[in-house]
Amino acid sequence: SDTELAEIYSFAIQLGRDAGAMLLNSLHRRRRDEAVGTGPEEETVLEEKLNAVDIVTETDREVEEFIHSAVATRYPSHAFIGEETYSSGSTKEYLVTDAPTWVIDPLDGTVNFTHSFVMFCVSIALVVRGKPVIGVIHAPLLNQLFSACKGKGAWLNETMRLPLLGKVGVGPIPRNAPSKCIFSCEWGKDRKDEPDGNLHRKVDSFVNMAAEVGARGGKGGMVHGVRSLGSATMDLAYTAMGAFDIWWEGGCWEWDVAAGTCLVQEAGGLLTTANPPEDSQTADIEDAKLGSRLYLAVRPACDNPGETAREGQ
Ligand code: IPD
Repeated sequence: SDTELAEIYSFAIQLGRDAGAMLLNSLHRRRRDEAVGTGPEEETVLEEKLNAVDIVTETDREVEEFIHSAVATRYPSHAFIGEETYSSGSTKEYLVTDAPTWVIDPLDGTVNFTHSFVMFCVSIALVVRGKPVIGVIHAPLLNQLFSACKGKGAWLNETMRLPLLGKVGVGPIPRNAPSKCIFSCEWGKDRKDEPDGNLHRKVDSFVNMAAEVGARGGKGGMVHGVRSLGSATMDLAYTAMGAFDIWWEGGCWEWDVAAGTCLVQEAGGLLTTANPPEDSQTADIEDAKLGSRLYLAVRPACDNPGETAREGQ
């Protein structure tokens, strides 16, 4: 019911706040330890999964445990899937049932976190019948808390409705991409083609996509900038905000995108699966399903901040 959902939403926001505070404490603790020479940065990294950029820190584990136990206490009948629970092999399931499921990334942007780069956050979503209905993203070093609940819009710090920017004139995607846009994409963690670590291939695909997106803006269409934050979750939050026009990544997991999906959709944007430029003529503009792996998010198209414009597209 609506009342139940509203109550879960408040709980999720508080959880996001607390988990974000834990991330910040852990960052300060590490800086203190480093200052007195007892905690070299390497000690925070517990494990490399695929390679040196696919890492788990003590903080990822602590924060996930905290969220898991809070959810289990308050909503014992709900299912839970977290990045660390899944990676450690404690569960092999994700989003398989229609039951309300919490989908969590305790620390998205782990590499950023270990370098004290601001773009890291906790991501908390409630997914019902495969659809994210609540999303909370807290980037504590930026003091930005994003939240969304089905039918209630998307918000920054609970007071500013998203999108913040009311740019005009975005048509249906992917055939008619916005011109003069900021295009954001991620490097992912696939570094298997050592020694160049896949980097050349990635750069090529970013450049091709940026050119394609610009070309679709029509006359004068040009990409204003290409960004890569190192956090798929933050990319989605900034797309919902209207700061980024398009975000693309192949190889994302549910916990990277679940909360961000709710934000983008509630702000009036679009999340779909497309692989520009390959799919430029054919890409399906249906909503992406969690588990798609490949995502393309497009910022809300609206003249007035705060008003969704999907009907008008
Ligand atoms: C990763 C980050 C990264 C993206 C990867 C994600 P993590 O999450 O969001 O930007 O490229 O696909 O898995 O490991 O920092 O939680």
